[in-house]
Amino acid sequence: MAHLPLSGTSDKAVAGRTAYVILHNTSEVATPDPEGRGVVRHPRGAIVFREGRVVEIGPAGELSRRHSEARPINANGRLVTPGLVDCHTHMIFAGHRAAEFQRKLAGEDYATIAAAGGGIRSTVRATLAEREDVLEKNLASRIERWRANGCTTVEVKSGYGLEPHAEVRLLELMRGAVQRVPGRVKRTALLLHALPDDYRDRRDEYVREMAERVVPDIALRELAGAVDVFCDPIAFTVDECRTVLAAAKGKRLAIKLHADQFERSGGARLAAELGAVSADHLESATEEDWHALGTAGVVGVLLPGAALTLRQTLPDAEMLRRSGARIAIATDFNPGTSPAQSLLECAALASRQCGFTADEALLAITWNAAKALGLESQVGHLNPGAWGDAVTWECESLEELPYWMPAVRPDCVFIRGSDLALPTVERRVWP
Ligand code: NIG
Ligand code: FE
Repeated sequence: MAHLPLSGTSDKAVAGRTAYVILHNTSEVATPDPEGRGVVRHPRGAIVFREGRVVEIGPAGELSRRHSEARPINANGRLVTPGLVDCHTHMIFAGHRAAEFQRKLAGEDYATIAAAGGGIRSTVRATLAEREDVLEKNLASRIERWRANGCTTVEVKSGYGLEPHAEVRLLELMRGAVQRVPGRVKRTALLLHALPDDYRDRRDEYVREMAERVVPDIALRELAGAVDVFCDPIAFTVDECRTVLAAAKGKRLAIKLHADQFERSGGARLAAELGAVSADHLESATEEDWHALGTAGVVGVLLPGAALTLRQTLPDAEMLRRSGARIAIATDFNPGTSPAQSLLECAALASRQCGFTADEALLAITWNAAKALGLESQVGHLNPGAWGDAVTWECESLEELPYWMPAVRPDCVFIRGSDLALPTVERRVWP
């Protein structure tokens, strides 16, 4: 897999300037273990960050003695977790589709609205009509909003350009936006989202162009670390998706799929066959599909914002446990199916609908989500060697994270061991 910098700000440059700190006086520190199999809890624990990374985690008394030179930061008796990881968003777009939401509530379905020129294509029109500097700045503001909600790593997909050159342009704007913010960003090229009007009678040509021209260009210019496709009867077939994903694999890019969202159509099985890092949505997947993901080591990503908006149901936790698959939860933030702006809120919804424990919910928005981005050695946990990305929450126990609605707010958000100021004014980030 291509290793790209996680954001525009160089980890080395920033880490070199950060202090040697010990975060102490916590109620508890809760983190996934190094293999992401369970959650380890350190009552009244402490964490030591040095040069931007975690060097030690454990009992506060012991750590304070061993690290007497470290600058103490008081967590004020609060819960500390790793910074959250939102592994599926479509954050670069203009406009909104609130009117379309009303039509959905009145009974029109997603496919009918899309076929009548609404849906993805209407956001594509709004995005193309927007000034590029505004798109770039609004994306940066959104990433900051996610940081204020406790997400220190965010995946952002292109996908509202559709024309090959427009998708590449969105990826370039994404690269610009991430240089403005401290949060970590993984860029994904969503290359088969909807067929643009220009290619209405040239479907094969579109798929070929994406596979043979766009994928190599993305790999060469390091515009994205992963390629995604929308595998569904209303979007692209399994064979079309296979063509683009195989090309991406050939260029050592990670691959992901929007799979089995509206119909069970082979997306999850394709993800398992090709060794995707994740298969996302899966509202129509069967237990057999989940088993295939578990066996192949593909993370299954649940998107409660989309399921709820489209009035679909999420799978039961008991079945998911039996499957052996790793589960992540993400916002899927987009203007059509998921205007959800808080990952923790999504985890609270999924916990209720599926029946997850607090430990499972934490794993789903930290270690497992990091694995869906190929980053589990670096983020999504607070074991020695990981980046010092952590959150002190305005609550005392892990059980409160999926409990409160609206979700618990972060008190401090650390990135690379630094508790940077949070944006105080939450302005509206779309016109
Ligand atoms: O993840 N399923 C496909 N793509 C998006 C929705 C895009 C849109 O409706 O604008 C999703 O749900
Ligand atoms: Fe999506």
